[in-house]
Amino acid sequence: MNILLIGSGGREHALAWKIAQSPLLKRLVIAPGNPGMAGLGELRDVKATDVAGLAALAKEISADLVVVGPESALAEGIGDAMQALNIPCFGPLKAAAQLESSKAFTKDFCKRHNIPTAQSETFDNVAEARDFLKTYDPPYVIKADGLAAGKGVAISPDYQDAVAEIEAMLGGRYGPASSQIVIEEFMTGEEASVFALCDGETSILFGWAQDHKRAFDGDTGPNTGGMGTYSPAPVVTDAVLKRTQDEILTPTMTGMKAEGHPYKGVLYAGLMIEDEAPRLVEYNARFGDPECQVLMLRLKSDLVPYLLAAATGRLRDLPPPQWHDMAAVCVVFAAKGYPDSPLSGSVIRGAESDFGPDVIVFHAGTSRSADGTLRAAGGRVLNICARGADIRQARDRAYEAIAKIDWPGGFYRTDIAHRAL
Ligand code: AMP
Ligand code: GLY
Repeated sequence: MNILLIGSGGREHALAWKIAQSPLLKRLVIAPGNPGMAGLGELRDVKATDVAGLAALAKEISADLVVVGPESALAEGIGDAMQALNIPCFGPLKAAAQLESSKAFTKDFCKRHNIPTAQSETFDNVAEARDFLKTYDPPYVIKADGLAAGKGVAISPDYQDAVAEIEAMLGGRYGPASSQIVIEEFMTGEEASVFALCDGETSILFGWAQDHKRAFDGDTGPNTGGMGTYSPAPVVTDAVLKRTQDEILTPTMTGMKAEGHPYKGVLYAGLMIEDEAPRLVEYNARFGDPECQVLMLRLKSDLVPYLLAAATGRLRDLPPPQWHDMAAVCVVFAAKGYPDSPLSGSVIRGAESDFGPDVIVFHAGTSRSADGTLRAAGGRVLNICARGADIRQARDRAYEAIAKIDWPGGFYRTDIAHRAL
């Protein structure tokens, strides 16, 4: 098969690493990719949001499958463009990707289909939002409707702060993404991410993980895209999985189809779990980053048949995926200053050494100079991932490897996976 993979982060490096192992693969083209992926496929300099350019590339290489990594490409309508070309695409059409790109859409959808989530209301008017706030107790949860690069959620400790957030968001802080806001009930519990592959009709569970969103140890500092992950996550018990499937994923598949937007691709359910009862915090229309990295390390089955079956409505024909009986941990090595103003250009040494069979370093934001020097070129720069018999061994292997990388311009959390130990 000829496969076009779209994206350039650690998530896409992990997908490329796994796709490259498939006996079904003839040619892997990655747009735009990153230096770490160069040995796995052909890199082509087309941006993930350049829908016309990607469509032309898919045609040029006679792609049998297009695999979409990032949400930005989905929100731009890459799925629709591939459908118009009759090329199977792993990723939803734009209308179905609203499960991620519009929180107002998703909250209304959950109400219509009785999917457990925080109670909420949507507003486009400051006065009404302010009045509504008075009917809730702090902390207040205020969310921009649209995609805001992971920054669109404010949890305000008191009324004054919440009003300031409402004014800032409706005043245009995130542009059109915050022309509507959602105010919702604060949920308590433990968070986890559950992934399902979907083909418009059926969904199958495809792994679960826990993420560390804050920048610094002890869950302090600003929110980030994710500083580390581990899988499996003990909080996700069999009972939680069954309830997630029955109460959240299945009604979502049925509801989206009934409303004319069958969902295909991967559905990432961000859950709040209390007493083994899962509630939906958010949906994403793509794999998590860096959740995908630990899932790919644990996946034993060939990934490609699953991606293709999701894209072509054939998931029913496949057996459940097989997983290695191992745990995996990913530690993100980020550029100093991340997430607000990561410093670019610093030199990284030793990241491409051989760390043994159970450690893999995925690139997330690197560049390579003409002389071969590797440099930081992003916020999250490297993902140090390891497998082990259990979480502790996987974590120890990841931290032993990261200690050997000489990069004074980077920082990482030292407590990834602490909750599972
Ligand atoms: P989201 O982008 O919707 O996932 O929100 C980002 C983070 O804010 C989540 O991972 C949670 O930690 C937190 N959060 C969002 N909504 C709620 C809620 N209703 N109650 C408590 N925490 C929340
Ligand atoms: N790691 C969180 C996300 O991908 O949204």
